[in-house]
Amino acid sequence: MLFSLEPKVNRKDLYDRDRELNELREGVHRGNKLIAIYGIRRIGKTSLVKAFLSDLSYPYVLVDVRQVYFIEGNVNASNLVKYIINGFKGFMGMGERLWESFRDALRGIGWVRVGAGGVEVKLSRKSRVNLIELLNVIDGWCERNSTRFILVFDEAQYMRFSNVKYDGVLAWAYDNLGNITFIVTGSEVGVLRDFLRIDDPQAPLYGRYIKEIYVDRFSKDAGLDFLRRGFAELGIEVSEGELEEVYERLDGIVGWLTLYGYLRGVEGLSHREALDRVFSDGVKLVLSELDEVIRPSRARYLAILNAVAHGLNTWSEIRRYVEVKTGEISDTVFNRLMRNLVKYGYLSRVGDNYVIPDPVVAKAVVEAGIG
Ligand SMILES: Nc1ncnc2c1ncn2[C@@H]1O[C@H](COP(=O)(O)OP(=O)(O)OP(=O)(O)O)[C@@H](O)[C@H]1O
Ligand SMILES: [Mg+2]
Repeated sequence: MLFSLEPKVNRKDLYDRDRELNELREGVHRGNKLIAIYGIRRIGKTSLVKAFLSDLSYPYVLVDVRQVYFIEGNVNASNLVKYIINGFKGFMGMGERLWESFRDALRGIGWVRVGAGGVEVKLSRKSRVNLIELLNVIDGWCERNSTRFILVFDEAQYMRFSNVKYDGVLAWAYDNLGNITFIVTGSEVGVLRDFLRIDDPQAPLYGRYIKEIYVDRFSKDAGLDFLRRGFAELGIEVSEGELEEVYERLDGIVGWLTLYGYLRGVEGLSHREALDRVFSDGVKLVLSELDEVIRPSRARYLAILNAVAHGLNTWSEIRRYVEVKTGEISDTVFNRLMRNLVKYGYLSRVGDNYVIPDPVVAKAVVEAGIG
């Protein structure tokens, strides 16, 4: 169903994204080592990757790094490895022979326990999980079986919360492992790029080719077509005028369009009720996500976002508004706050203007007021 709320897991339920799927396919088949997928929240990154993987004949593991962070409190190597190993269960279905040989390969690692059904991490006091050892074993196994392995870190910017410098591990893998493709995704685009230190000549990954794919909002044609098809699938008639309003108000962000479709098509709300609910539920969600980012300087961050939400779009207009609302602020501090909001995707820069790329975020910051 097009309007199901979970990330899509197969091609059939994924609307469009043909260009992105092709780029992914090309990248993997060409043997690209590192592919980065960027896009603001709820734009469909996880759905894209999962649908892509579901069609692929290579074994893969997807680790939801944001989830690891929220469950474990950090993304230390032992946690990350535990989640990777748990992910192996997912590819047991790829064929008995392949799976059997993969388990044999893992038997060579002291701290992995390989049972009849699955594999798990077994840590004695002496052993330590070793991500590099694991990657080496996977790579060797790929070599012997003429396959590739795809390792996906969804919301990889959370890997910065760790005792390990993963950008170094990725660079090492890039140089030494020929058969593993890493795919990283990030909704906090600037934070992910910072974490990978893509533009830093001193950084381990510097100078290595990274294939970058941007997932964008649906065009008007695509957005309207998506809504029409979703409702047709449910046998529900809707008016074009209403769909246009939905597209315009939600600005082509597929996650919000899907939520609207679900509320109206599955829960049976009216057009108006569904649209209102997207905003009211969305505002709560956005505020809980935003909270962590703006906590260090809540009033000033909210003043900035309020300025933009009210149509003040240039650097100096925003700065003036912030000073009126929250008192004097130095250029250095103001610029740092602006930069952070851009990095986390709450602001984006279009020419000399700043805009809030998600209309639900704009509503949320207005409702939150200033501080
Ligand atoms: N191409 C698509 N076709 C149909 N539904 C989609 C598509 N892309 C995303 N969705 C739906 O939109 C919502 C958000 O998708 P998804 O979770 O994949 O986005 P995301 O970019 O990974 O979000 P987040 O930043 O929160 O992790 C989900 O309900 C998903 O089912
Ligand atoms: Mg996601």
